[in-house]
Amino acid sequence: MSAIRFDGKTAIVTGAGHGLGRAHAMLLASRGANVVVNDLGCSVDGTGASVSAAQQVADEIKAAGGQAIANSDSVTDRKKVKNIVDTAINEFGGLHILVNNAGILRDRSFKNITDEDWDSVIDTHLNGTYNVTKAAWPHLREQAYGRIVVTASGSGMFGNFGQTNYGAAKAGLIGFAKALGHEGAKYNIRVNILCPAAASRMTQDLMPSAILDKLKPESVSPIVGFLCSDEVDVTGGVFEAGAGAFAHSNWARSHGYKTSNADNIATLEEIRDHWKEITDLSSPDVLDNPAAAMGKFMQ
Ligand code: NAI
Repeated sequence: MSAIRFDGKTAIVTGAGHGLGRAHAMLLASRGANVVVNDLGCSVDGTGASVSAAQQVADEIKAAGGQAIANSDSVTDRKKVKNIVDTAINEFGGLHILVNNAGILRDRSFKNITDEDWDSVIDTHLNGTYNVTKAAWPHLREQAYGRIVVTASGSGMFGNFGQTNYGAAKAGLIGFAKALGHEGAKYNIRVNILCPAAASRMTQDLMPSAILDKLKPESVSPIVGFLCSDEVDVTGGVFEAGAGAFAHSNWARSHGYKTSNADNIATLEEIRDHWKEITDLSSPDVLDNPAAAMGKFMQ
């Protein structure tokens, strides 16, 4: 089998100045992609800005023999995101791959969260991904080719204490990417979702160093590379990755209970009496589209 390469393809990786984005950008470039290294150069909580984060990674790629250009526009700035896409097109003549990775963290219990903590996290992850994808979409659609990765999180799938803002943004991204996966299918645009686990400045205070040592960002990037390749045959998939392990996740549903009342309206007592069946996830159905999900209810 031939090696997976990206020669002649151009990728944008947002938030590529540190951590996971840097690792994804380095991998894509090492396999021949031209890379727009986007990064605002802010701190973990989204404050501040510096052109050096993006520039440093672009320089590293070039020093290793790859092709890269730095861009330090914020993914949240609707007036400027077009620059990110234009940089790819003007510098490298096209755009084929978009890895939405930029992110910030403002963990606080719901009692203490401020409107600004809420808005900035939603804005960076959810609106930021929308903004860059919206700017890239016409090019991908027109050329009938595109690979998009959206970075979500286990926090969006399972919820995590102190992360109502982050979990809401990440769960929103799963819905966004699944819907866009359907819309892109006939244009050969595949949109998939990454839920990573990696040691980065974002997670350095959240986990003990013995665990962080096993969670290199580089051990997540191979699946990002594959999801960006010609060979990926899935769209709208959620892929978890960390410590060199990779898996496909999906919603699980209990076999449940259906009322036999003629009007399809159950009583509260029926719900109580069948609660075990409703909540039993020991041998769930795995459902991957709304028609299948609804169809089962209508049977
Ligand atoms: P990181 O803090 O090392 O990297 C995030 C990068 O995004 C930073 O370089 C930052 O400057 C950049 N950034 C932030 N706001 C930006 C904006 N408005 N425009 C452009 N760039 C911006 O964090 P890490 O861990 O590498 O996170 C990358 C992504 O992976 C994030 O979306 C994060 O939520 C997600 N993630 C990370 C996990 C982990 O275990 N590290 C777990 C689950 C999700």
